[in-house]
Amino acid sequence: MKPEHGFSEVMSLSSGLGVIRGAALTFCGDPFLIGAAAAMRYESDALVVMEAGKIKAFGAYADIKKTLPANTKITTYADALILPGFIDLHVHYPQTQIIGAYGKQLIDWLNRYTFVAEQQFADIDHAREVSQFFLDECLRVGTTTAMVYGTVHSHATDVFFEAAAERNMRMIAGKVMMDRNAPAALCDTAQSGYDDSKALIEKWHGQRRLGYAITPRFAPTSSPAQLEAAGALWREFPDVHMQTHIAENTDEVAWVSQLFPNHQGYLDVYDHYGLVNKRAVFGHGIHLTHAEWQCLHEAGAGVAHCPTSNEFLGSGLFRFDNAKNKSRPVRVGLGTDIGAGTCLSPLRTMGEAYKIGELCGNSLCAADAYFLATRGAAEALHLDDKIGSIGVGMEADLVVLNLKSTPLVEFRMKFCNSIEEVLAVQMTMADDRATRAVYVAGKLAYGN
Ligand code: GUN
Ligand code: ZN
Repeated sequence: MKPEHGFSEVMSLSSGLGVIRGAALTFCGDPFLIGAAAAMRYESDALVVMEAGKIKAFGAYADIKKTLPANTKITTYADALILPGFIDLHVHYPQTQIIGAYGKQLIDWLNRYTFVAEQQFADIDHAREVSQFFLDECLRVGTTTAMVYGTVHSHATDVFFEAAAERNMRMIAGKVMMDRNAPAALCDTAQSGYDDSKALIEKWHGQRRLGYAITPRFAPTSSPAQLEAAGALWREFPDVHMQTHIAENTDEVAWVSQLFPNHQGYLDVYDHYGLVNKRAVFGHGIHLTHAEWQCLHEAGAGVAHCPTSNEFLGSGLFRFDNAKNKSRPVRVGLGTDIGAGTCLSPLRTMGEAYKIGELCGNSLCAADAYFLATRGAAEALHLDDKIGSIGVGMEADLVVLNLKSTPLVEFRMKFCNSIEEVLAVQMTMADDRATRAVYVAGKLAYGN
């Protein structure tokens, strides 16, 4: 696994190239569908060549080195693993301040903690400060793309996009639409939610590396008129994303059937308003029916599995045998779902996804988990031609993990005999301390 030379030096950009060397892992397919061996590409000693924000070359050191000018500076990462930058498919940046607010399940938790915290985002300076902190934390854990909920306040999403643009990160975000069953200070209306979202799309969607997600929070907090408006907006701007929650908690599912008695189920509510499509990402999906999984498969929609949140709120166990049923597989990625989720670290999130799999007889292999945090999430976003893999022409968002980040991890690593074991140990034992370096669009954005 070790590159021949254990040196590390600052890469030279004089040639316009950024070149890094180390062990590297990426995916060329879905391990749930084709098996880990066929889906994984592992290079024990790779070179990744970056130019103008993209990957120009990737492959075995011996092959790529000879294509480079003789004086090319190379940054070598020993005892490390180069991966595509992680993708967090479901996260609420304003809830960074309520992680660990304990003692309640979903609906009580929303009323008692979440809706209180989100009211503070009426203050634009607070929103700006939390946006900056959140994005810096994303980089610190190796997350280069996230699908992010703001609050109902349009300016809270506006300043988030400003902060993401400053960092040149590929971020997708949206202003929450919510016009009932929430405090008055957090409610918009069907019309103002539509108008504010449209103004944000026109200002930010497609600027730099930013994308907009139409964001009705979930069916219980949007009137039929607001869901109608969200669907109309998406028809006007079909290339933006859409994000919401679904089937997270059994009380929530029962509430939706009371609020929308004339629908066949939770997903049917969204479907009725034109919200089940490519580039839709539904958070949680623990209690979906087989018919609903079938519908998501046919639509090409995505689901964000949020293991630490589901554990923290006692929401239930996500079923990979349903989500990745080979006869109708659905696009799935991992979300941290801060602040119901308990950390921003994708490694920790993968470790918990593994444990939830074990609790319901759905054993994940390590490759499955790393896929979900990289290419799987990119496929759910329909952005897999740009992010989520290491390959020529892909955007150069990369994370370099230090495989010896703590004494215990370092000790355990001595007993690993394969890359599969290394991956399993890292996702079980490592955390943000393992982030050695992060590259965003080819530039070093964290670490060294
Ligand atoms: N359902 C609706 N809103 C939320 C939220 O903010 N967090 C979680 N976990 N579930 C939700
Ligand atoms: Zn959520």
